[in-house]
Amino acid sequence: PNNEFKHMVEAHTLAANFYSHLLLNTVEGEEALQYLEKRGFSRESIEKYRIGWSLNDYSALSDLLKRKRFELREMEQAGLCIMKDDGTGYFDRFRGRIMFPLCDDLGNVVAFSGRTLSSGKQEAKYLNSPETPIFEKGQLLYNFHNARLNVRKTGKVILFEGFMDTISADRAGVQNSVAVMGTSLSETHLIKLKRIAKEIIICCDGDDAGWEASKRFASMALKKGMEVRIALLPGRMDPDDYIAEYGEEAFREKIIANPHSYMSFIMSYAKRSKNLSYENDVLQYIHEVLEELASRSSPIERDLYIHQLSTETGITVEAIHQQFMKMV
Ligand code: CTP
Ligand code: MN
Ligand code: MN
Ligand code: MN
Ligand code: MN
Repeated sequence: PNNEFKHMVEAHTLAANFYSHLLLNTVEGEEALQYLEKRGFSRESIEKYRIGWSLNDYSALSDLLKRKRFELREMEQAGLCIMKDDGTGYFDRFRGRIMFPLCDDLGNVVAFSGRTLSSGKQEAKYLNSPETPIFEKGQLLYNFHNARLNVRKTGKVILFEGFMDTISADRAGVQNSVAVMGTSLSETHLIKLKRIAKEIIICCDGDDAGWEASKRFASMALKKGMEVRIALLPGRMDPDDYIAEYGEEAFREKIIANPHSYMSFIMSYAKRSKNLSYENDVLQYIHEVLEELASRSSPIERDLYIHQLSTETGITVEAIHQQFMKMV
């Protein structure tokens, strides 16, 4: 790696150690530590994921970087500092946030995501590093370097939306998970995952955005030729909420060990916005499911789901089958 890369990674490692120290060993970090404990974070996961705290101060990290002979101009390009409006110097990008180091595939810290402690909507919940020479958001999968071995061993990778979910799942004994950090999954992400896993289990948040993301992720992964399953959560919970509410064992046994097939997910998805006691919703429902089924080649699957549709709606198998033949 060139010098720029090396300096930037060194600075991030220094920053991660600094933030971690502030969280674990200082009075200023106490509130954040209590927040994490209240959310169920164990000391073990705080250490494993190198979680930290950035002081409510404009120069704490910049001062440290300067003392360690890093050039702040370069640190600005690395996303750690921001230039003052009048151009006279730099200040810290992350202030008063819980710091989550984001690592590349080798485990180098290359960026941060900082979570606010407040639950209000005044400021963004997460503040992320900008794209830099060492950090491309569309490439990084949270926890990839930790999960890789377990993914290879099991042939399966669990995909979450948020890194909080990965950290909680890990504590619950699910150690082959990664997170995309939001609702966009890239080609690069998938190529990386396909190289190490045969099967992907998509487990997004239970809100509308999460269901929509599940559908998008699932069809992307199918196109890539992966085996796809979708784990669904009750209500509008996310995986981390579910673990807090129902416990680790329920999460492992009921959610992760019991994911839906793609078609079964599609049926739940199509039903979600409908009321099957309305005629129009029934027709729309059948149409949506058949459309998906038309692009699936297995005759057994076709037969299975046509029967299921018939049972659910009371329309005869023959009628549904005829409709289907018009669509393929
Ligand atoms: N995200 C982000 N900026 C935001 C909101 C979300 O970058 N303002 C990304 C984060 O990487 C986050 C992921 O999207 O991990 C999922 O978002 P969300 O479900 O809202 O966050 P949670 O992981 O559920 O966080 P928390 O439980 O702390 O609310
Ligand atoms: Mn200061
Ligand atoms: Mn979400
Ligand atoms: Mn969430
Ligand atoms: Mn959450």
